[in-house]
Amino acid sequence: MNASRKFPKTRLRRTRFSPERRSLIEENKLTTDDLIQPIFVKEDLDGIEKIDSLPGINRIGMNALDEEIEKLKNNNIKAIAIFPVISADKKDELGSESINENNLVCEAIRQIKRYADMAVIADVALDPYTSHGHDGVLDETGYVDNDESLEVLIKQAMVLARAGADMIAPSDMMDGRISGIREALEKEKFVNTIILSYAAKYSSKFYGPFRDAVGSSMNIGKGSKDTYQMSVANSDEALHEVRMDLEEGADIVMVKPGMPFLDIIKSVKETFKVPTFAYQVSGEYAMLKAAIENNWLEESVLFESMLSFKRAGADAILTYAANEIASKLNK
Ligand code: PBG
Repeated sequence: MNASRKFPKTRLRRTRFSPERRSLIEENKLTTDDLIQPIFVKEDLDGIEKIDSLPGINRIGMNALDEEIEKLKNNNIKAIAIFPVISADKKDELGSESINENNLVCEAIRQIKRYADMAVIADVALDPYTSHGHDGVLDETGYVDNDESLEVLIKQAMVLARAGADMIAPSDMMDGRISGIREALEKEKFVNTIILSYAAKYSSKFYGPFRDAVGSSMNIGKGSKDTYQMSVANSDEALHEVRMDLEEGADIVMVKPGMPFLDIIKSVKETFKVPTFAYQVSGEYAMLKAAIENNWLEESVLFESMLSFKRAGADAILTYAANEIASKLNK
């Protein structure tokens, strides 16, 4: 710090005097280029259906998908992350429906890709498909078996790539998934399919509303994902995870949840200087929305939360508020 920068020679309020001056010294700007909207598509649904724990967000039937994408396009949203809500009778121990190339997500990706210039991100994890709600397959003791899970996850990644997903996003936290998926993609000449790795994904209770949304919360019950997702107590381990995923062939890394882990976003970005995304997860969004709906907080806290991600160094943010924020940015 320059010692000569002292009051009254320096009055930091000078640059805050008017909106014009303030806008000139703004260090971070949020635009629609930063926002990714997660969406839930639901099988056998006619139209849309509210999600109680995610105010303002709906499950979308295939017959309402075009209209939904149209709305996002009109607000200049350029990317979506798509999650399936499949019927309970299609869930099994192995998550078999995940590797059906005509499953709900694959159909939705094809439908979107037929008419819209929208980047589509598709999750690789078995939880929307398993009867037990875990992201992988279980061994006889009920432990999520890493290498058995990889077999299924790699197949799942490939059906998503073939359906036309721009980005394959492994959110399962198995070891070795990135190299396995990268190898399979290369083998089939999917040289331009991005791997967006949920590299530092914590075992967090902030995912609650998401699990309601995809209908996996009943299945997982009181079980936790602590044996594969990271402990919320750790930060060095996040850098270890990110380093490994980059070495294994990830193009973009993600930190999740978002606001409770801004320190991690910052150190990932500073350490690796690679494209880094943040996921403002369902529970974070639900908290903010609940307070806004009760008039306990002003709506602008949503913008404020986005700027916290920008300051931390996130290149893009997955947030359920993407469309809502975009509609205001465009005004
Ligand atoms: C699937 C997955 C989850 C989320 C994204 N992909 C849930 C989980 O790991 O239990 C959470 C997203 C959110 O809470 O918004 N593995």
